Amino acid sequence: MSTPDPRRFVYDPFRAGPGFEWLDHNRIRVLAGPHAGTAFGIDTGLTEVSATAVLYHHTRKVGSAAVDLVGSSKTAVLWDVGVTEPLRGGGLATIMVWCLFRELLLEDRAVRFRIRMVRSLTTNGGHPLQNVGMGVIAARFGFTPEMNVARVLAGNNITGIEPIPPDRGFPPAIRLSLKTDPLVVIAFILSPDTLRPIPDYRTYIDVKADDWQIVNWAREGLLCVNGNYCLRESGFNRFVNALAVDYDEARRFRSRLREV
Ligand SMILES: CC(C)(COP(=O)(O)OP(=O)(O)OC[C@H]1O[C@@H](n2cnc3c(N)ncnc32)[C@H](O)[C@@H]1OP(=O)(O)O)[C@@H](O)C(=O)NCCC(=O)NCCS
Repeated sequence: MSTPDPRRFVYDPFRAGPGFEWLDHNRIRVLAGPHAGTAFGIDTGLTEVSATAVLYHHTRKVGSAAVDLVGSSKTAVLWDVGVTEPLRGGGLATIMVWCLFRELLLEDRAVRFRIRMVRSLTTNGGHPLQNVGMGVIAARFGFTPEMNVARVLAGNNITGIEPIPPDRGFPPAIRLSLKTDPLVVIAFILSPDTLRPIPDYRTYIDVKADDWQIVNWAREGLLCVNGNYCLRESGFNRFVNALAVDYDEARRFRSRLREV
């Protein structure tokens, strides 16, 4: 296990989602994106074993996020995030995740962070991609796939690459067949500038001839795969820069983090 060295930390704040302001202790107003100008209620709860955030529009619940806490290792596992369908794609999940992770750091309740992806068998109409939004959010907070993707894909382990065209709101993706476990990986790629899924299908077709590029994307944290994510030391700076509101806070958060 590595010991993070906070002296190497440079505070370079990064906004993972849309800006928002607090109207009072449990009400926010989103300042950018499709929900700009809209106020939402937000309730957070913290117990010995869990942390939750619930988002309301007027009195209607429109989103929630839940974290399991393992007290003995101070591990936080984000696992259940949902936003009502018409309001998706406007940063609401990112805001809830931001509030939860931040509260856990402020209260010194977690030093290790994971994301457990919940597989849905019914709600995505049979599309092979799952959890696109959560993959984006994970990357923006510095998480990397639990599976060591660069290692799994290296050394001629890829036996087949099949592009999957964009479909009904799902970005294009690739299906990778492998010689070894897990045998099949479905992945999409993030643009390095925006950390949004690359919408251009050509990129995925071109990659058929270039599996070296896939390994490279994996190394750079730009390849989102089906599966769980964890926060490793390579992502600590990104995590802290996304969550802290000033330098002192950032240094404090950074010095506490430990690898899963
Ligand atoms: C996953 C989920 C909670 C995301 O909620 P959301 O409010 O849409 O998430 P955000 O808007 O914060 O998404 C973060 C970014 O991902 C992008 N994104 C989300 N879904 C996307 C998609 N299908 N294609 C491309 N980009 C997508 C958003 O546009 C946003 O990028 P931006 O800030 O550049 O605009 C929501 O899609 C959902 O409830 N899904 C069903 C339940 C589920 O799968 N939960 C995950 C279990 S862990």
